[in-house]
Amino acid sequence: MIRFGIIGCGRISEKHVVSIAKCSNARLTDLYDPLPERMEELERKYSLVNRELSTDTVAVAKHSDPDGLLRDANVDAVVIATPSHSHAHLAVAALRAGKPVLLEKPMALSLRDADEIAESAANLRLRVQVCHQLRYRPLMRLAKEWVDNGTLGTIRSGTVTVRLNRSPAYYAAAPWRGSWDQDGGMLLNQGVHLIDLLLWMMGETVDSVYGMLGWGKNVKPTEDVAIGTIRFANGAIGIVEANTISQPNNLDQSLSLFGDLGTISIGGTGLTEVRRWHAVGQETPLLPEAADFDEHLAMYEHFVGSLQGHPHDPLFAVDTPDGRRALETVFAIYESARIASPIRLPLLSFDTRMMADHHFNDNN
Ligand SMILES: NC(=O)c1ccc[n+]([C@@H]2O[C@H](COP(=O)([O-])OP(=O)(O)OC[C@H]3O[C@@H](n4cnc5c(N)ncnc54)[C@H](O)[C@@H]3O)[C@@H](O)[C@H]2O)c1
Repeated sequence: MIRFGIIGCGRISEKHVVSIAKCSNARLTDLYDPLPERMEELERKYSLVNRELSTDTVAVAKHSDPDGLLRDANVDAVVIATPSHSHAHLAVAALRAGKPVLLEKPMALSLRDADEIAESAANLRLRVQVCHQLRYRPLMRLAKEWVDNGTLGTIRSGTVTVRLNRSPAYYAAAPWRGSWDQDGGMLLNQGVHLIDLLLWMMGETVDSVYGMLGWGKNVKPTEDVAIGTIRFANGAIGIVEANTISQPNNLDQSLSLFGDLGTISIGGTGLTEVRRWHAVGQETPLLPEAADFDEHLAMYEHFVGSLQGHPHDPLFAVDTPDGRRALETVFAIYESARIASPIRLPLLSFDTRMMADHHFNDNN
């Protein structure tokens, strides 16, 4: 049994407690949030789901500081679901306390912080898994298999679109959202999932990036619109097209892969609609139903299994190099927009705070 402590009991933490309740070898034991009412609410949610599942609920310890949770010998692993700027120091503190970490995306807001997490995890031989849950969907897994076994031929192009709506109320509900020093823009908050998928599918080193950013609403300083073109080391081209100003609500997210021998394109608001699944000389396989699949639970099953030493599928190990790769690509789009020039990777250093004096309309 892996006993989890959660640090940060806001909006996304609910998904974590539901998954912990449903996951076969997991249990929630500890919570920390500076707002005690958030811990109460989350504990209630955990008890409710346990009741629905007819599982016994064990009392949950609620702490008045993160160190109390990290010192608790009853905690085997820590979930970090706090505002993004606090991920790095909490992850490093958890690792130093000897706890493996399930870390919300984005991994960090600077490459230096991402590297510190990765180095601590490597030195202490502890796992850090970044929450890019879309990878666990069977449809994505099958697409990845078709790419990796060459069924689509050489992939020449991969594109992702993220066309969402985030209202002023979304930003007002949590003031850290949409700030350069605590969150980053929509590309880092919402876009990073699809960018992770694109990099995973293409399986190639990014060689260079060109980015443009646009600003649509006057409620936050960060971008609402972003375009990134990516040149991979093997010559393939990636395109990222993202916004959070689609009216009147979420329009679409998509991933498309174009190879010499085939095309896969998946889209829709939930990224569950197969628009094309074709390869020369191949029968279209029976495609897994995506709509009802619980990817958060699959992510937990994988993480818990890996901590318990079960053989696990390396395709699903979204560890620190993967988290960093997606970050570096987002940061390269930002840096390219900031200096209005293409960027060659590797990007040696970047911090979202460098964007604070970026004037969208002057540069783009
Ligand atoms: N994987 C996903 O699909 C997904 C979805 C939404 C959010 N997220 C990520 O999860 C994180 C949290 O997002 P959210 O929407 O739940 O935010 P939120 O504002 O709803 O919740 C954050 C919680 O953390 C608490 N908090 C603030 N500082 C803290 C600290 N130092 N220590 C402990 N708790 C602290 C706040 O009181 C709040 O309860 C962000 O990094 C976000 O990018 C991931």
